[in-house]
Amino acid sequence: MSETSAGGDRPPVTVIGLGSMGSALAGAFLAAGHPVTVWNRTPEKAGALVERGAVRAATVAGAVAASPLVVVCVLDYAAVHRLLGPVGGSLAGRTVVNLTNGTPRQARETAALVTGHGAEYLDGGIMAVPPLIGTPHALVLYSGSPGAFEEHRRTLRVLGTAEHLGADPGLAPLHDLALLTGMYGMFAGVLHATALVRSAGVGARDLAPMLASWLKTMVDAELPRLAERVDSGVYGGDVGSPLAMQAAAFDNFLRAGEEQGVRPDLIVPLKALMDRRVADGHGDEDLAGIVELLTARPARPAGRHAS
Ligand SMILES: NC(=O)c1ccc[n+]([C@@H]2O[C@H](COP(=O)([O-])OP(=O)(O)OC[C@H]3O[C@@H](n4cnc5c(N)ncnc54)[C@H](OP(=O)(O)O)[C@@H]3O)[C@@H](O)[C@H]2O)c1
Repeated sequence: MSETSAGGDRPPVTVIGLGSMGSALAGAFLAAGHPVTVWNRTPEKAGALVERGAVRAATVAGAVAASPLVVVCVLDYAAVHRLLGPVGGSLAGRTVVNLTNGTPRQARETAALVTGHGAEYLDGGIMAVPPLIGTPHALVLYSGSPGAFEEHRRTLRVLGTAEHLGADPGLAPLHDLALLTGMYGMFAGVLHATALVRSAGVGARDLAPMLASWLKTMVDAELPRLAERVDSGVYGGDVGSPLAMQAAAFDNFLRAGEEQGVRPDLIVPLKALMDRRVADGHGDEDLAGIVELLTARPARPAGRHAS
C-alpha cells in the first residue's frame, strides 16, 4: 500500500543510494508522506521501497529530475562524483543534500561541483544508525547553503534532529568525524579495559555497568572543564590531577598489561604524548594541554561558540 497519500502537502524527495542508510532515509520520507523517487546502482534493492509507494527511477538523471530535493547517500565521495558528474546539466535549480561520509575537503569539492551547475548544496553527517532514522534520536548535522537549509528544513527534520552548522560545507563532515573520533577513542579504552579484566577471568558483562557509570561521570565532570582549558589556553592553576601524576599512574596501565598478557597497542600513543608534555615542563598542568601537541593554536578559536 502506498504511504505517500498520508500528507498531500509534502514536497517530493529523491534518494540516490539504497544501502542500509539510504533505504532508511527513503523509508522515513515515505512514512512522513513525501512522494519519494529512488535510484540505486543495484536496482533490486529498491523493491521494498517501491512496494511502499516509492517510484524507481531508471537513471540517475531521471532521479534528479523528479524532485527539487535530491538526497545522496552512497559509500564514498568517489561514488558521489561518479554518479553526479555525468548528470551535472540536470542539477540546475535543485538542492543536493549529500549525506555520504567524507572529509571537509571532499565536501567543499563536491559543493563546488554541484553549485557550478546552478544547484544549491548541503553536506551532512548522520550521527545515527539506520534504525534510528526518522526518530528525534537521529542527529543529522548539515552545512552549506543556509538558504537551502531553511527552505528544506521541514523535510530534513523527517530524518531526525537537524542542525545546521554554517555556510562552509566542510563543517558537517568536520563535526561528524570529530564526534566519531571521540567515540572510537572511548571504545579504544573500553576494549583495553575489557581485555584487562578478561585476562583475569572477569566477564565483559561484569565490567560493563561499572565502566559505563564511570565513563558517564568522567564525561559529565571533565569535558566542560577540558573545553574551557583548551579554548582559554590556560592549563595550569587549580589542577587536581596534574599530568605528571597521571603519567606515573599510566605506567601502571602498561605494566599491568604486560603482567596480564594484554597488548598495549591502543593506549601507548597517549602515554607517549603525556611523557612528551611532561618533558616539555608541563607536568603540573592539566591533561587538556596535550591538545597543544596535536595541532597549532589558531590565531582566534573558530567555531559557533567563539565570540
Ligand atoms: N549504516 C550506518 O550505520 C551509517 C551511519 C552513518 C553514516 N553512514 C554513511 O552512509 C553512507 C552509506 O552507508 P550505508 O550503510 O548505506 O552503506 P552500504 O549499505 O554499504 O551501501 C552503500 C551504498 O553505496 C552504493 N555504492 C557504492 N559504491 C557505488 C558506486 N561506485 N556507484 C554507485 N553506488 C555505489 C551501494 O550501491 P549498491 O547497492 O549497488 O552496492 C549502496 O547503495 C556511507 O558513507 C556511510 O559512512 C552509515
